[in-house]
Amino acid sequence: MASWNAWMALVLMGIMLAEMAANSEAASRPNYGDALSKSILFFEGQRSGKLPPSQRMTWRKDSALRDGIQMGIQHPKIGIIKQVDLVGGYYDAGDNVKFNFPMAFTTTMLAWSVADFKPFFGSELPHALDAIQWATDYLLKCTSVPGFVVAQVGDGFADHNCWERPEDMDTPRTPFAVSRKYPGSELSAEIAAALAASSIVLRSSNRTYAARLLSRAKTVFNFANTYQGSYNDSLGPWVCSFYCSFSGYQDELIWAAAWIFRASKLPYYSSYVLDNLYKLDPPYNGGSFAEFGWDTKHAGINVLVSKLGFANHLQPNPFLTNADKFVCSVLPESPTKFVSYSPGGLLFKDGGSNMQHSTTLSFLLLVYARYTSTIKRTIRCGNVIAKPSRLAQLAKRQVDYILGDNPLNMSYMVGFGRKYPQRIHHRASSLPSIDVHPENIECQGGTSYFFSSNPNPNVLVGAIVGGPGINDKYSDSRADFPHSEPATYINAPLVGLLAFYNTH
Ligand SMILES: *[C@@H]1O[C@H](CO)[C@@H](O)[C@H](O)[C@H]1NC(C)=O
Ligand SMILES: *[C@@H]1O[C@H](CO)[C@@H](O)[C@H](O)[C@H]1NC(C)=O
Ligand SMILES: *[C@@H]1O[C@H](CO)[C@@H](O)[C@H](O)[C@H]1NC(C)=O
Repeated sequence: MASWNAWMALVLMGIMLAEMAANSEAASRPNYGDALSKSILFFEGQRSGKLPPSQRMTWRKDSALRDGIQMGIQHPKIGIIKQVDLVGGYYDAGDNVKFNFPMAFTTTMLAWSVADFKPFFGSELPHALDAIQWATDYLLKCTSVPGFVVAQVGDGFADHNCWERPEDMDTPRTPFAVSRKYPGSELSAEIAAALAASSIVLRSSNRTYAARLLSRAKTVFNFANTYQGSYNDSLGPWVCSFYCSFSGYQDELIWAAAWIFRASKLPYYSSYVLDNLYKLDPPYNGGSFAEFGWDTKHAGINVLVSKLGFANHLQPNPFLTNADKFVCSVLPESPTKFVSYSPGGLLFKDGGSNMQHSTTLSFLLLVYARYTSTIKRTIRCGNVIAKPSRLAQLAKRQVDYILGDNPLNMSYMVGFGRKYPQRIHHRASSLPSIDVHPENIECQGGTSYFFSSNPNPNVLVGAIVGGPGINDKYSDSRADFPHSEPATYINAPLVGLLAFYNTH
């Protein structure tokens, strides 16, 4: 009897130990599934236009319902062109302007997230596709008048001078466009890339719609390529204080061609990539390998085209060579590293909204890790050897840092975990909702909310903010916008990463 009791005690203790181990495992592993749902939900908080009955972030209401119709498309040099429906799309960040260049990049990255990680989305797939279509419905409107591509809706200066809810906006909703005579190839080509990438992932839900996206992508690419120029020169005074094009437009033309090739398999587009690659050469050294974002596509082109394989007959394959250089420019142990890391392990580059670099570069690392693992490629950075598992580990480390595994034990995703940013630089989130405060709050009427030390009344669930400083400290202050402002292009690549880590 006694020995049986002792045996039972041992068994029970074994079960308890196993449970403790499981609990501590659960405590250290972030809930990637929850983070995935929230990272997508965030896009509902950024919606402009008429909200559908399926809207889940219900403190947001309809806004900017007369965009385009009210003012027509404006061209500073040509004048008013035509009234056109430009309702919809996304507000860019904590403001109420629709900046189409970064919005298109956001869309491309959401679509790439689904294109490469679709099997891992589970029940979140329909929400991810909705987030993509919310953008493409709008981008179709922006490219509906032949010979024009809308670059921006809303006067950035007037908007930034106010702290008001999108639902109350009274600033000029001026729509600016590029044209044949006043081109903007980086803007137009990024929109083409977004439409093509989206057509790949929306095909299974609606073939007709996906075919429309691909056909429009080709038209807009042709426009961007035929009338070459930077939107800096056409719309500089309106766009350059916000989203100036620093790296030119050759990268977007090649990027768009690569996406149209992936969507269509037409050899014209792969030939375009190979024939024009040399044009990237002058800026194609040093730092640009470690750069991937709304302005600079180089590293993204190399990873994407490596995977597409159409350059495999070239010896050496310049895309693989350059994708390796990208890896060597970000790996902490690499002798040719071109980025910094905080003591807590977060990747850093100069400028505000640092988290965008962490999410975009991690996305590329994971995509390239999976590809190099299938072709059994080992990357050498000087004497340092980087296996695919190392790339994936670095990407995961960035995701974990964002979700709370950092010196402050703080999640940089709003509404996720125990501790997260409370005073994000975001007009709609920081002002009372229409439900609570139906009366209009005019341009300067929001000032007291901006300076209040209270947490934001509306939780913009899923938003990733610009993030901590390089010392891993975070001030959680609305005024500190380089750190406390969310942006759509910070979230978009994270969606794919979270889908993957939720199931791996
Ligand atoms: C599919 O897309 C087409 C073209 O945009 C649209 O007219 C149609 O209503 C869509 N069908 C469904 C089932 O959503
Ligand atoms: C756009 O303008 C910025 C700021 O003036 C400049 O640094 C950049 O080189 C310009 N880009 C192009 C493509 O002309
Ligand atoms: C973060 O969590 C760790 C482990 O639970 C703990 O040792 C540390 O003191 C925490 N740091 C802060 C700033 O709360």
